[in-house]
Amino acid sequence: MSHQAYEMLRGKLAARSARVGVVGLGYVGLPLAVELARAGFVTTGIDLDRRKVDAVTQGTSYIPDVPTAEVARLVADGRLRATTDFSVVAELDTINICVPTPLRKTKDPDMSYIVSAVEQIAKHLHAGMLVILESTTYPGTTEELVQPMLEAGGLKAGVDFFLAFSPERVDPGNPTFNTHNVPKVVGGLGAASTELASALYGAAIETIVPVSSPQAAEMVKLLENTFRMVNIGLVNEIALMCDRLGLDVWEVIGAAKTKPFGFMPFYPGPGLGGHCIPIDPFYLSWKAKQYGFEPRFIELAGHVNGAMPHATVDKIADALNVHKKALNGSRILIAGIAYKRDIDDMRESPSLDVMALLHEKGAQLCYADPHVPSLSARAWPGGYDLSALPIDRSTLAGVDCVAILTDHSAFDYDALVAAAPLVVDTRNAVKTPHPHVFKLGAPQILRAETWQPADQAA
Ligand SMILES: NC(=O)c1ccc[n+]([C@@H]2O[C@H](COP(=O)([O-])OP(=O)(O)OC[C@H]3O[C@@H](n4cnc5c(N)ncnc54)[C@H](O)[C@@H]3O)[C@@H](O)[C@H]2O)c1
Repeated sequence: MSHQAYEMLRGKLAARSARVGVVGLGYVGLPLAVELARAGFVTTGIDLDRRKVDAVTQGTSYIPDVPTAEVARLVADGRLRATTDFSVVAELDTINICVPTPLRKTKDPDMSYIVSAVEQIAKHLHAGMLVILESTTYPGTTEELVQPMLEAGGLKAGVDFFLAFSPERVDPGNPTFNTHNVPKVVGGLGAASTELASALYGAAIETIVPVSSPQAAEMVKLLENTFRMVNIGLVNEIALMCDRLGLDVWEVIGAAKTKPFGFMPFYPGPGLGGHCIPIDPFYLSWKAKQYGFEPRFIELAGHVNGAMPHATVDKIADALNVHKKALNGSRILIAGIAYKRDIDDMRESPSLDVMALLHEKGAQLCYADPHVPSLSARAWPGGYDLSALPIDRSTLAGVDCVAILTDHSAFDYDALVAAAPLVVDTRNAVKTPHPHVFKLGAPQILRAETWQPADQAA
Protein backbone atom coordinates (compact mmCIF):
# COMPACT_ATOMS: atom_id res chain seq x y z
CA MET A 1 0.00 0.00 0.00
CA SER A 2 2.70 2.45 1.05
CA HIS A 3 4.37 2.99 -2.32
CA GLN A 4 1.11 3.22 -4.21
CA ALA A 5 -0.33 5.66 -1.65
CA TYR A 6 2.87 7.69 -1.80
CA GLU A 7 2.79 7.90 -5.60
CA MET A 8 -0.86 8.84 -5.64
CA LEU A 9 -0.53 11.65 -3.10
CA ARG A 10 2.70 12.86 -4.66
CA GLY A 11 0.89 13.12 -8.01
CA LYS A 12 -2.03 15.02 -6.49
CA LEU A 13 0.31 17.44 -4.72
CA ALA A 14 2.25 18.09 -7.93
CA ALA A 15 -0.98 18.68 -9.86
CA ARG A 16 -2.40 20.82 -7.02
CA SER A 17 -5.45 18.58 -7.08
CA ALA A 18 -4.88 17.39 -3.48
CA ARG A 19 -7.59 18.63 -1.12
CA VAL A 20 -5.78 20.13 1.84
CA GLY A 21 -6.95 21.14 5.29
CA VAL A 22 -5.79 23.18 8.27
CA VAL A 23 -7.10 22.67 11.82
CA GLY A 24 -6.97 25.83 13.94
CA LEU A 25 -7.38 29.10 12.05
CA GLY A 26 -5.42 31.39 14.38
CA TYR A 27 -2.22 33.42 13.97
CA VAL A 28 -0.51 30.36 12.47
CA GLY A 29 -3.33 28.45 10.78
CA LEU A 30 -5.03 31.24 8.81
CA PRO A 31 -1.82 32.49 7.11
CA LEU A 32 -0.93 28.87 6.26
CA ALA A 33 -4.39 28.13 4.85
CA VAL A 34 -4.21 31.29 2.73
CA GLU A 35 -0.73 30.37 1.47
CA LEU A 36 -1.87 26.83 0.51
CA ALA A 37 -4.93 28.23 -1.25
CA ARG A 38 -2.75 30.76 -3.09
CA ALA A 39 -0.55 27.88 -4.22
CA GLY A 40 -3.60 26.42 -6.00
CA PHE A 41 -4.96 23.88 -3.52
CA VAL A 42 -8.62 23.78 -2.56
CA THR A 43 -8.11 24.43 1.13
CA THR A 44 -10.48 23.80 4.03
CA GLY A 45 -9.94 25.42 7.42
CA ILE A 46 -11.47 23.78 10.47
CA ASP A 47 -11.92 25.67 13.73
CA LEU A 48 -14.17 25.25 16.76
CA ASP A 49 -14.57 29.03 16.97
CA ARG A 50 -17.66 29.80 14.92
CA ARG A 51 -16.77 33.52 14.70
CA LYS A 52 -13.52 32.71 12.88
CA VAL A 53 -15.24 30.24 10.56
CA ASP A 54 -17.98 32.78 9.78
CA ALA A 55 -15.40 35.51 9.16
CA VAL A 56 -13.47 33.37 6.65
CA THR A 57 -16.68 32.22 4.99
CA GLN A 58 -17.64 35.88 4.56
CA GLY A 59 -14.23 36.57 3.05
CA THR A 60 -12.82 38.63 5.92
CA SER A 61 -9.56 38.35 7.82
CA TYR A 62 -9.12 38.85 11.57
CA ILE A 63 -5.33 38.39 11.48
CA PRO A 64 -3.54 41.69 10.78
CA ASP A 65 -0.84 40.03 8.62
CA VAL A 66 -3.47 38.49 6.31
CA PRO A 67 -5.22 41.02 4.04
CA THR A 68 -9.01 40.73 3.90
CA ALA A 69 -8.85 41.27 0.11
CA GLU A 70 -6.77 38.08 -0.20
CA VAL A 71 -9.19 36.01 1.88
CA ALA A 72 -12.14 37.45 -0.06
CA ARG A 73 -10.50 36.59 -3.41
CA LEU A 74 -9.65 33.02 -2.40
CA VAL A 75 -13.11 32.39 -0.92
CA ALA A 76 -14.78 33.82 -4.04
CA ASP A 77 -12.59 31.59 -6.25
CA GLY A 78 -13.72 28.55 -4.26
CA ARG A 79 -10.18 27.80 -3.10
CA LEU A 80 -10.66 28.63 0.59
CA ARG A 81 -13.49 27.61 2.84
CA ALA A 82 -13.96 27.11 6.56
CA THR A 83 -16.07 24.90 8.77
CA THR A 84 -16.53 23.76 12.36
CA ASP A 85 -17.34 20.24 11.16
CA PHE A 86 -14.50 17.71 11.33
CA SER A 87 -16.34 15.24 9.08
CA VAL A 88 -14.80 17.10 6.09
CA VAL A 89 -11.52 15.36 7.03
CA ALA A 90 -12.92 12.29 5.25
CA GLU A 91 -12.64 14.23 1.94
CA LEU A 92 -9.16 15.64 2.55
CA ASP A 93 -5.78 14.33 1.39
CA THR A 94 -3.69 16.33 3.89
CA ILE A 95 -4.31 18.05 7.21
CA ASN A 96 -2.11 20.44 9.18
CA ILE A 97 -2.75 20.86 12.90
CA CYS A 98 -2.19 24.41 14.21
CA VAL A 99 -3.97 24.43 17.58
CA PRO A 100 -2.70 26.13 20.77
CA THR A 101 -0.14 24.56 23.09
CA PRO A 102 -0.26 26.59 26.31
CA LEU A 103 1.17 25.74 29.73
CA ARG A 104 -0.83 24.65 32.72
CA LYS A 105 -0.50 26.73 35.90
CA THR A 106 2.12 24.20 37.05
CA LYS A 107 4.20 25.02 33.90
CA ASP A 108 3.48 21.55 32.50
CA PRO A 109 2.44 21.24 28.82
CA ASP A 110 -1.29 21.48 28.18
CA MET A 111 -1.79 18.96 25.39
CA SER A 112 -5.60 19.07 25.53
CA TYR A 113 -6.00 21.05 22.26
CA ILE A 114 -3.77 18.67 20.31
CA VAL A 115 -5.50 15.65 21.85
CA SER A 116 -8.94 17.00 21.04
CA ALA A 117 -8.01 17.87 17.42
CA VAL A 118 -6.29 14.51 16.82
CA GLU A 119 -9.28 12.63 18.31
CA GLN A 120 -11.52 14.32 15.76
CA ILE A 121 -9.11 13.69 12.87
CA ALA A 122 -8.71 10.02 13.89
CA LYS A 123 -12.46 9.49 13.45
CA HIS A 124 -12.19 10.41 9.76
CA LEU A 125 -8.61 9.33 8.97
CA HIS A 126 -8.35 7.32 5.78
CA ALA A 127 -5.63 5.43 3.93
CA GLY A 128 -3.23 7.56 1.90
CA MET A 129 -3.71 10.70 4.01
CA LEU A 130 -0.89 12.97 5.23
CA VAL A 131 -1.17 14.42 8.77
CA ILE A 132 1.24 17.16 9.85
CA LEU A 133 1.48 18.60 13.35
CA GLU A 134 2.63 22.25 13.44
CA SER A 135 1.83 23.25 17.02
CA THR A 136 4.98 23.92 19.01
CA THR A 137 5.48 21.05 21.42
CA TYR A 138 7.99 18.86 23.31
CA PRO A 139 10.24 16.45 21.36
CA GLY A 140 8.46 13.13 21.02
CA THR A 141 4.86 14.43 20.76
CA THR A 142 4.26 13.29 17.18
CA GLU A 143 5.47 9.74 17.75
CA GLU A 144 4.48 9.23 21.39
CA LEU A 145 1.10 10.98 21.47
CA VAL A 146 -0.26 11.66 17.96
CA GLN A 147 0.84 8.46 16.18
CA PRO A 148 -0.83 6.00 18.62
CA MET A 149 -4.05 8.02 18.61
CA LEU A 150 -4.18 7.97 14.81
CA GLU A 151 -3.22 4.30 14.63
CA ALA A 152 -5.95 3.24 17.09
CA GLY A 153 -8.36 2.76 14.17
CA GLY A 154 -6.07 0.14 12.57
CA LEU A 155 -4.17 2.17 9.93
CA LYS A 156 -0.38 2.25 10.35
CA ALA A 157 1.68 5.45 10.15
CA GLY A 158 4.36 5.43 7.45
CA VAL A 159 2.55 2.51 5.76
CA ASP A 160 -1.16 3.30 5.38
CA PHE A 161 -0.98 7.01 6.08
CA PHE A 162 1.81 9.57 6.40
CA LEU A 163 2.80 11.58 9.45
CA ALA A 164 5.19 14.49 9.98
CA PHE A 165 6.01 17.39 12.27
CA SER A 166 6.83 20.82 10.85
CA PRO A 167 7.30 23.74 13.24
CA GLU A 168 5.66 27.04 12.42
CA ARG A 169 8.02 30.01 12.64
CA VAL A 170 5.66 32.87 11.80
CA ASP A 171 6.55 36.21 13.38
CA PRO A 172 3.34 38.27 13.56
CA GLY A 173 3.82 41.88 12.50
CA ASN A 174 7.12 41.21 10.72
CA PRO A 175 6.95 43.16 7.43
CA THR A 176 9.82 41.19 5.81
CA PHE A 177 9.37 37.57 6.80
CA ASN A 178 6.07 35.72 6.43
CA THR A 179 4.74 32.18 6.02
CA HIS A 180 5.81 32.20 2.35
CA ASN A 181 9.48 33.15 2.71
CA VAL A 182 10.51 31.69 6.06
CA PRO A 183 12.26 28.33 5.44
CA LYS A 184 10.13 25.37 6.60
CA VAL A 185 11.70 22.57 8.62
CA VAL A 186 10.06 19.19 8.00
CA GLY A 187 10.61 15.90 9.83
CA GLY A 188 8.50 12.92 8.77
CA LEU A 189 8.02 9.47 10.15
CA GLY A 190 10.17 7.84 7.48
CA ALA A 191 11.37 9.15 4.13
CA ALA A 192 7.99 8.97 2.37
CA SER A 193 6.29 11.14 5.01
CA THR A 194 9.13 13.70 4.89
CA GLU A 195 9.00 13.84 1.10
CA LEU A 196 5.23 14.24 0.92
CA ALA A 197 5.18 16.93 3.61
CA SER A 198 8.03 18.68 1.77
CA ALA A 199 6.08 18.45 -1.49
CA LEU A 200 3.00 20.03 0.14
CA TYR A 201 4.96 22.91 1.67
CA GLY A 202 7.20 23.22 -1.39
CA ALA A 203 4.16 24.25 -3.41
CA ALA A 204 3.54 27.23 -1.11
CA ILE A 205 6.80 28.05 0.69
CA GLU A 206 10.12 29.09 -0.84
CA THR A 207 12.60 26.89 1.07
CA ILE A 208 12.11 23.47 2.66
CA VAL A 209 14.60 22.08 5.19
CA PRO A 210 14.11 18.32 5.72
CA VAL A 211 15.41 16.76 8.95
CA SER A 212 15.71 13.11 9.97
CA SER A 213 12.63 12.69 12.19
CA PRO A 214 9.58 14.40 13.70
CA GLN A 215 11.47 14.56 17.00
CA ALA A 216 14.39 16.44 15.42
CA ALA A 217 11.91 18.92 13.88
CA GLU A 218 10.19 19.38 17.26
CA MET A 219 13.57 20.04 18.87
CA VAL A 220 14.56 22.59 16.19
CA LYS A 221 11.65 24.83 17.16
CA LEU A 222 12.42 24.53 20.86
CA LEU A 223 16.10 25.33 20.29
CA GLU A 224 15.11 28.47 18.37
CA ASN A 225 12.73 29.72 21.03
CA THR A 226 14.94 28.69 23.94
CA PHE A 227 17.80 30.59 22.27
CA ARG A 228 15.65 33.72 22.25
CA MET A 229 14.35 33.26 25.75
CA VAL A 230 17.81 32.68 27.26
CA ASN A 231 19.37 35.59 25.37
CA ILE A 232 16.56 37.92 26.40
CA GLY A 233 17.13 36.72 29.98
CA LEU A 234 20.82 37.54 29.62
CA VAL A 235 20.21 41.01 28.25
CA ASN A 236 17.56 41.71 30.91
CA GLU A 237 20.14 40.84 33.56
CA ILE A 238 22.72 43.06 31.82
CA ALA A 239 20.11 45.87 31.80
CA LEU A 240 19.59 45.64 35.55
CA MET A 241 23.37 45.45 35.99
CA CYS A 242 23.90 48.58 33.83
CA ASP A 243 21.29 50.43 35.86
CA ARG A 244 23.26 49.60 39.03
CA LEU A 245 26.62 50.46 37.46
CA GLY A 246 25.37 53.78 36.13
CA LEU A 247 25.55 52.71 32.48
CA ASP A 248 23.00 52.93 29.67
CA VAL A 249 22.32 49.40 28.38
CA TRP A 250 20.81 50.77 25.15
CA GLU A 251 24.01 52.60 24.32
CA VAL A 252 26.03 49.48 25.14
CA ILE A 253 23.89 47.20 22.92
CA GLY A 254 23.90 49.77 20.11
CA ALA A 255 27.69 49.82 20.05
CA ALA A 256 28.10 46.04 20.58
CA LYS A 257 25.93 45.25 17.58
CA THR A 258 28.32 47.06 15.25
CA LYS A 259 30.52 43.95 15.56
CA PRO A 260 29.94 42.26 12.22
CA PHE A 261 30.28 38.69 13.54
CA GLY A 262 29.73 36.71 16.73
CA PHE A 263 27.15 39.05 18.29
CA MET A 264 23.43 39.29 17.83
CA PRO A 265 21.46 42.04 19.59
CA PHE A 266 18.63 41.19 21.98
CA TYR A 267 16.82 43.92 23.88
CA PRO A 268 15.61 44.24 27.45
CA GLY A 269 12.01 45.01 28.30
CA PRO A 270 9.25 44.70 30.90
CA GLY A 271 9.12 40.90 30.54
CA LEU A 272 8.43 38.13 28.05
CA GLY A 273 5.18 37.98 26.14
CA GLY A 274 3.30 36.12 23.45
CA HIS A 275 2.25 32.53 22.95
CA CYS A 276 5.79 31.28 22.24
CA ILE A 277 8.88 32.60 24.03
CA PRO A 278 7.54 32.54 27.62
CA ILE A 279 6.01 29.09 27.10
CA ASP A 280 7.84 26.86 24.64
CA PRO A 281 11.13 26.46 26.58
CA PHE A 282 9.14 24.99 29.47
CA TYR A 283 7.88 22.25 27.14
CA LEU A 284 11.52 21.32 26.61
CA SER A 285 12.35 21.66 30.29
CA TRP A 286 9.41 19.38 31.20
CA LYS A 287 10.57 16.70 28.78
CA ALA A 288 14.25 16.94 29.78
CA LYS A 289 13.33 16.48 33.45
CA GLN A 290 11.57 13.21 32.59
CA TYR A 291 14.99 11.97 31.48
CA GLY A 292 16.64 13.18 34.71
CA PHE A 293 18.23 16.15 32.90
CA GLU A 294 18.18 19.50 34.69
CA PRO A 295 17.77 22.32 32.08
CA ARG A 296 19.48 25.08 34.06
CA PHE A 297 19.64 27.84 31.43
CA ILE A 298 15.87 27.68 30.86
CA GLU A 299 15.05 27.83 34.56
CA LEU A 300 17.52 30.67 35.19
CA ALA A 301 16.30 32.75 32.24
CA GLY A 302 12.74 32.09 33.45
CA HIS A 303 13.62 33.60 36.85
CA VAL A 304 15.34 36.68 35.36
CA ASN A 305 12.62 37.34 32.79
CA GLY A 306 9.87 36.68 35.36
CA ALA A 307 11.33 39.41 37.58
CA MET A 308 11.21 42.11 34.87
CA PRO A 309 7.62 43.27 35.53
CA HIS A 310 8.73 43.85 39.15
CA ALA A 311 11.84 45.76 37.98
CA THR A 312 9.54 47.88 35.78
CA VAL A 313 7.28 48.70 38.73
CA ASP A 314 10.38 49.62 40.78
CA LYS A 315 11.46 51.96 37.98
CA ILE A 316 8.04 53.62 37.92
CA ALA A 317 8.12 53.98 41.72
CA ASP A 318 11.61 55.56 41.53
CA ALA A 319 10.44 57.99 38.85
CA LEU A 320 7.37 59.04 40.87
CA ASN A 321 9.59 59.35 43.93
CA VAL A 322 11.55 62.10 42.19
CA HIS A 323 8.25 63.98 41.91
CA LYS A 324 7.62 63.27 45.62
CA LYS A 325 4.73 60.97 44.70
CA ALA A 326 3.85 57.43 45.75
CA LEU A 327 2.54 54.66 43.54
CA ASN A 328 -0.50 54.58 45.80
CA GLY A 329 -2.99 57.02 44.32
CA SER A 330 -0.88 58.00 41.30
CA ARG A 331 -2.56 57.92 37.91
CA ILE A 332 -0.44 55.94 35.47
CA LEU A 333 -1.01 55.65 31.73
CA ILE A 334 0.28 52.39 30.29
CA ALA A 335 1.39 53.04 26.71
CA GLY A 336 1.10 49.71 24.87
CA ILE A 337 -0.54 46.58 26.25
CA ALA A 338 0.03 44.18 23.30
CA TYR A 339 3.05 41.97 23.98
CA LYS A 340 5.12 43.50 21.19
CA ARG A 341 5.26 46.35 18.72
CA ASP A 342 2.55 46.89 16.11
CA ILE A 343 0.44 43.81 16.84
CA ASP A 344 -2.85 43.24 18.66
CA ASP A 345 -1.90 40.03 20.51
CA MET A 346 -2.07 40.30 24.31
CA ARG A 347 -1.33 36.69 25.21
CA GLU A 348 1.12 36.57 28.15
CA SER A 349 1.72 40.31 27.70
CA PRO A 350 4.04 41.63 30.42
CA SER A 351 1.99 44.87 30.40
CA LEU A 352 -0.80 42.94 32.10
CA ASP A 353 1.59 41.75 34.84
CA VAL A 354 2.90 45.28 35.35
CA MET A 355 -0.66 46.61 35.53
CA ALA A 356 -1.64 43.97 38.09
CA LEU A 357 1.38 44.83 40.28
CA LEU A 358 0.69 48.57 40.03
CA HIS A 359 -2.99 48.01 40.83
CA GLU A 360 -2.01 45.98 43.90
CA LYS A 361 0.03 48.95 45.12
CA GLY A 362 -2.89 51.34 44.74
CA ALA A 363 -2.04 53.02 41.42
CA GLN A 364 -4.94 54.17 39.22
CA LEU A 365 -4.48 52.82 35.73
CA CYS A 366 -5.50 53.75 32.23
CA TYR A 367 -3.96 52.69 28.93
CA ALA A 368 -3.35 53.64 25.32
CA ASP A 369 -2.92 51.08 22.54
CA PRO A 370 -3.97 51.70 18.94
CA HIS A 371 -4.21 47.92 18.38
CA VAL A 372 -6.27 47.00 21.46
CA PRO A 373 -9.44 49.12 21.77
CA SER A 374 -10.59 47.63 25.08
CA LEU A 375 -9.35 45.52 27.96
CA SER A 376 -11.74 43.41 29.97
CA ALA A 377 -11.44 42.95 33.73
CA ARG A 378 -10.92 39.21 33.14
CA ALA A 379 -7.72 39.82 31.16
CA TRP A 380 -5.63 41.08 34.09
CA PRO A 381 -5.49 39.89 37.70
CA GLY A 382 -7.51 42.08 40.05
CA GLY A 383 -8.41 44.25 37.10
CA TYR A 384 -11.34 46.30 35.86
CA ASP A 385 -12.75 47.02 32.40
CA LEU A 386 -10.83 49.69 30.51
CA SER A 387 -11.08 51.35 27.10
CA ALA A 388 -8.04 52.65 25.25
CA LEU A 389 -7.41 56.39 25.57
CA PRO A 390 -5.82 58.51 22.85
CA ILE A 391 -2.38 59.85 23.70
CA ASP A 392 -3.24 63.53 23.50
CA ARG A 393 -2.73 66.61 25.64
CA SER A 394 -5.92 66.10 27.63
CA THR A 395 -5.06 62.47 28.49
CA LEU A 396 -1.48 63.36 29.36
CA ALA A 397 -2.55 66.32 31.51
CA GLY A 398 -4.55 63.94 33.68
CA VAL A 399 -1.79 61.47 34.56
CA ASP A 400 1.20 61.49 36.89
CA CYS A 401 3.31 59.16 34.76
CA VAL A 402 3.32 57.40 31.39
CA ALA A 403 4.93 53.94 31.26
CA ILE A 404 5.93 52.93 27.71
CA LEU A 405 5.66 49.14 27.83
CA THR A 406 5.15 48.44 24.10
CA ASP A 407 6.86 50.66 21.53
CA HIS A 408 4.14 50.79 18.89
CA SER A 409 5.24 52.80 15.88
CA ALA A 410 1.88 54.63 15.84
CA PHE A 411 2.72 56.49 19.06
CA ASP A 412 4.05 60.02 18.63
CA TYR A 413 6.89 59.88 21.15
CA ASP A 414 7.94 63.51 20.70
CA ALA A 415 4.43 64.72 21.53
CA LEU A 416 4.19 62.26 24.41
CA VAL A 417 7.48 63.39 25.94
CA ALA A 418 6.57 67.05 25.45
CA ALA A 419 3.24 66.81 27.28
CA ALA A 420 3.71 64.04 29.88
CA PRO A 421 4.79 65.03 33.39
CA LEU A 422 6.92 61.89 33.78
CA VAL A 423 7.81 59.02 31.43
CA VAL A 424 9.19 55.56 32.15
CA ASP A 425 10.50 54.02 28.94
CA THR A 426 11.13 50.25 29.01
CA ARG A 427 11.78 49.95 25.25
CA ASN A 428 14.16 52.76 24.37
CA ALA A 429 11.35 54.37 22.38
CA VAL A 430 12.51 57.86 23.39
CA LYS A 431 15.83 58.39 21.67
CA THR A 432 17.03 61.66 23.21
CA PRO A 433 17.65 62.28 26.92
CA HIS A 434 15.11 64.32 28.87
CA PRO A 435 15.18 65.01 32.58
CA HIS A 436 11.70 63.57 33.07
CA VAL A 437 12.23 60.38 31.04
CA PHE A 438 13.43 57.37 33.02
CA LYS A 439 14.71 54.39 31.08
CA LEU A 440 14.84 50.76 32.04
CA GLY A 441 18.50 49.73 32.11
CA ALA A 442 19.86 53.26 32.34
CA PRO A 443 20.56 55.62 35.21
CA GLN A 444 18.67 58.90 35.57
CA ILE A 445 21.44 61.48 35.42
CA LEU A 446 19.40 64.67 35.33
CA ARG A 447 17.00 65.65 38.07
CA ALA A 448 13.44 65.23 36.85
CA GLU A 449 12.00 67.83 39.20
CA THR A 450 13.65 70.60 37.16
CA TRP A 451 11.52 69.73 34.14
CA GLN A 452 8.13 71.22 33.24
CA PRO A 453 5.87 70.53 30.24
CA ALA A 454 6.71 72.91 27.37
CA ASP A 455 3.52 74.94 27.71
CA GLN A 456 4.10 75.52 31.45
CA ALA A 457 7.78 76.41 31.20
CA ALA A 458 8.68 80.04 31.82
N1 LIG B 1 1.43 32.98 17.24
C1 LIG B 1 2.68 32.79 16.89
O1 LIG B 1 3.42 33.75 16.66
C2 LIG B 1 3.26 31.40 16.71
C3 LIG B 1 4.47 31.25 16.04
C4 LIG B 1 5.01 30.00 15.86
C5 LIG B 1 4.34 28.89 16.39
N2 LIG B 1 3.17 29.03 17.07
C6 LIG B 1 2.51 27.84 17.57
O2 LIG B 1 1.42 27.51 16.71
C7 LIG B 1 0.34 26.95 17.48
C8 LIG B 1 -0.92 27.76 17.25
O3 LIG B 1 -0.70 29.08 17.73
P1 LIG B 1 -1.59 30.32 17.29
O4 LIG B 1 -0.88 31.53 17.75
O5 LIG B 1 -2.00 30.20 15.86
O6 LIG B 1 -2.89 30.06 18.22
P2 LIG B 1 -4.33 30.77 18.08
O7 LIG B 1 -4.93 30.70 19.41
O8 LIG B 1 -4.19 32.08 17.38
O9 LIG B 1 -5.11 29.80 17.10
C9 LIG B 1 -5.45 28.51 17.42
C10 LIG B 1 -6.82 28.21 16.82
O10 LIG B 1 -7.11 26.84 17.08
C11 LIG B 1 -8.49 26.74 17.36
N3 LIG B 1 -8.71 25.47 18.06
C12 LIG B 1 -8.40 25.15 19.33
N4 LIG B 1 -8.69 23.87 19.58
C13 LIG B 1 -9.20 23.38 18.44
C14 LIG B 1 -9.69 22.11 18.07
N5 LIG B 1 -9.68 21.08 18.92
N6 LIG B 1 -10.15 21.95 16.82
C15 LIG B 1 -10.15 22.98 15.95
N7 LIG B 1 -9.69 24.19 16.24
C16 LIG B 1 -9.22 24.39 17.47
C17 LIG B 1 -8.79 27.98 18.16
O11 LIG B 1 -10.18 28.28 18.12
C18 LIG B 1 -7.95 29.02 17.44
O12 LIG B 1 -8.64 29.66 16.41
C19 LIG B 1 0.82 26.93 18.92
O13 LIG B 1 1.39 25.68 19.19
C20 LIG B 1 1.91 27.98 18.94
O14 LIG B 1 2.86 27.73 19.95
C21 LIG B 1 2.60 30.27 17.22
